[in-house]
Parts: sequence; C-alpha cells; structure tokens
Amino acid sequence: MWLQNDNDMIAPSLLSADFSNLAKEVEMLNGSSCDLIHLDIMDGVFVPNISFGFPVIKSIKDKVCKPLDAHLMIVDPDKYVKNFADVGVEYLSVHYEACTHLNRTVQNIHACGMKAGVAINPATPVSVLEDILPECDFVVIMSVNPGFAAQKYIDSIDKVRKLRKIIDSKGYNCLIEIDGGINRNNVEELSKAGVDIFVAGNAVFSSENPLQEIEYLKSKCSRQPL
Ligand code: DX5
Ligand code: ZN
Repeated sequence: MWLQNDNDMIAPSLLSADFSNLAKEVEMLNGSSCDLIHLDIMDGVFVPNISFGFPVIKSIKDKVCKPLDAHLMIVDPDKYVKNFADVGVEYLSVHYEACTHLNRTVQNIHACGMKAGVAINPATPVSVLEDILPECDFVVIMSVNPGFAAQKYIDSIDKVRKLRKIIDSKGYNCLIEIDGGINRNNVEELSKAGVDIFVAGNAVFSSENPLQEIEYLKSKCSRQPL
C-alpha cells in the first residue's frame, strides 16, 4: 500500500490576489506556511483569458522568498521557456494539449535549470502521460477547465488515484499537483489519494484570514504514515 507522507505543499495562486496591492500580498505569502507561489500565465489563445506576464513576475521576484511555480496556459510554450528561467521561475508546467513535441519541451525546461511539469485538462486521461512520466518532475491535474479562478471543482479523485498508482508502481520521482477549485472540502481526500501539491487561489485570497486559511489547508493535507 502507498505510504502517505507529511510533506504536501500548498501553492497559493496569485491570480486571485489583489493586484493593486501585490507587494502586500507577496509579503503575506512570505510570512505564511505556503511552500510555492503559483503563477497562472494565460495567453487568450489556449484559454479564453489573459492574465499577466514577465513584467509582473519581475516586479515580485526580488520580494518573494518562496519558489515560483509557473503554469503556462499558452500555445507554443517553447518560445518562452528560457524567459521564465531568466525571471527566476523554479517550477514550470506546460500543457500536454499545447505541445506538439512534449518531450523536447520538457528537455528544454530541464536544460534551463527548472523542474518540469506537464498539465492535463479535465478531459485528458492520465494514460496519455505514460511515455513522458519518467521525464517529469511533476504532473498538474487540472480540476477545472483552465482559464479562470474561482471555478467549481471537477471531481478528479479517480485520476489522482490512477496516476499515483502508475508513479508508485514504476518508482518514478514525480509529484502530483492539483489545480482548480481546491478548498477545505476536498483537500484532505485528495491528499489521501496521493496529491503532493495543492494550488489554491480563491480559497486563500477570498478568505477573511488568508494566513489562517493556508495553515488550515496545510494541516488538512499533512498526511500521517499508515
Ligand atoms: C485555472 C488556474 C488555477 C486557478 C486556481 O485556470 O490554472 O490555478 O486560478 O484558482 P482557484 O483555486 O480559485 O480555482
Ligand atoms: Zn494554475
């Protein structure tokens, strides 16, 4: 049986932050128990929304004391991989659905010194990852259709279980990140199913007390050895 561990990570998504007070939001995250800061990069082509890009990341890079986890919801991500490394991103994920030569893209991310992740949309089965998994540092299971914050969680527990089973049976060194609609109601169950990294946007930033919310989510996903 899969052994649970207690090093699950919380990655608040900046997309739900108050952009008119970004320095303050970053300061709050620095003082929190979060592990990564999730950056949602949208191009208005792969997804029907546009978010933010390099100037914003550069403006916070010197202020953050947590690793940056950029989630590229863009077509042709290869064009920008090096730029993300240059602005200090440490975890970079690209979408399976956006990459024609996914293996090359993942190699490119590694060559630029970052951890490489592959994200899959809710309609994409984990089985398509079979050949790329040995090269991945993490997989992002999308539990909403990408494009917007604060959407309703799409049940992804079976997908998580399936992926956990493949990773463990093959002995791959690959983390599972879940992204979309994560909150106090689903974090514990997902943690038990095998998620390692939890992205949370709305749950954190719409909370009266984001620091406490991060702490709470973290406590709910801190798994005990079986
Ligand atoms: C969706 C993004 C998510 C999202 C998370 O396109 O990739 O990271 O902003 O926000 P919540 O937690 O509000 O669903
Ligand atoms: Zn995301």
